[in-house]
Amino acid sequence: MIPFLDLNEVNAPYLNAIEAASLRVIRSGWYILGNELRSFETAFATYCNVTHCVGVANGLDAITLILMAYGFPEDSEIIIPANTYIASVLPVAYLGFKPIFVEPDPVTMLLDPDKIAQKITPLTKAIIAVDLYGRSCEMEPIMTLASQYGLKVIADAAQAHGAIYKNKKIGSIADATAFSFYPTKNLGALGDAGAITTSDDALAEKIRYLRNYGSLVRYKNDYQGVNSRLDEIQAAILNVKLPFLDAENDRRRAVAARYLNEIQVRDLTLPPADRIQDDAWHLFVIRHPDRPQFIAHLDANGIQTNVHYPLPIHMQQAFLEYRDLQLPITERIHNEVISLPLNAVLTDEEVTYIIQTVNQFNYQQ
Ligand SMILES: Cc1ncc(COP(=O)(O)O)c(C=O)c1O
Repeated sequence: MIPFLDLNEVNAPYLNAIEAASLRVIRSGWYILGNELRSFETAFATYCNVTHCVGVANGLDAITLILMAYGFPEDSEIIIPANTYIASVLPVAYLGFKPIFVEPDPVTMLLDPDKIAQKITPLTKAIIAVDLYGRSCEMEPIMTLASQYGLKVIADAAQAHGAIYKNKKIGSIADATAFSFYPTKNLGALGDAGAITTSDDALAEKIRYLRNYGSLVRYKNDYQGVNSRLDEIQAAILNVKLPFLDAENDRRRAVAARYLNEIQVRDLTLPPADRIQDDAWHLFVIRHPDRPQFIAHLDANGIQTNVHYPLPIHMQQAFLEYRDLQLPITERIHNEVISLPLNAVLTDEEVTYIIQTVNQFNYQQ
């Protein structure tokens, strides 16, 4: 069986270094907000070409803390793509804001800049641009629109570490960018972890307070904050893995290029091939009108696939109040998407086998 993703294999090349780094932290006696986090924040800010990186507990908190730090009033509306993982939207709802769902571009499946302006009202305060599957949103028109209307742009780059848009690193384009280092991500910790990158000094400082009970000096609390810190062991592990992120992304790009060049099946839609070298290829998401039949074919031939994601947010029990929204592009995407295995440890032979197996799919209508 070719697994969709085997984290033991993903981390195997770094295991000795990870064990040494973890042991160093364990023996240091300092576990929260210490040197490992400071070095990671400096290294990741440099990597993303921004002034600040603030480590937090996970990607969901990264989005929550950015929204909290901006201090929008309670009835604010936040524009958000309807095709995303639920973690992009939960912070909006949790803070009492209203998510305004926008249908995706049917080709990229990402936030469609042409559909944003019609959703802007006097209550709109921000746009959350989600770089889903590892591809950057079309940021130029989004940033232009935001500056015309005085909105903040928050990027959710939980899936897009190292992606590039028009020669700029993801993390340096939006007003603030949220990252997740959940173990399956392109840059994955061995537990939960997240970060925010920004070049806005005031925003970064406020988030540093908010992640630590609203405090920068012990027992002096300037804001009502939360506890959301990236711990020292996870920071040490990320310090080990960050120098290899670009090489891993390049391997993903090579696999994606082969899939795009060599897969050819009737009625199967591949992702756009216009940004092979800029995309971080967190996921390789293809579409087929008969997903169960396609998945069964791969499964019968020993290839594990995944679905990102099977049920849109507005159809989830958790968001019942949005059930009546008309989002046909989003619903169709959720019915058709299949993720093929794509990671830095797939061998050339495995990639060849996956391509051959996909190409043998004989669609019975
Ligand atoms: C697009 C997106 N946003 C946010 C998150 C939340 O990250 P985390 O799991 O670290 O909270 C994830 C990942 O899980 C994600 O894929």
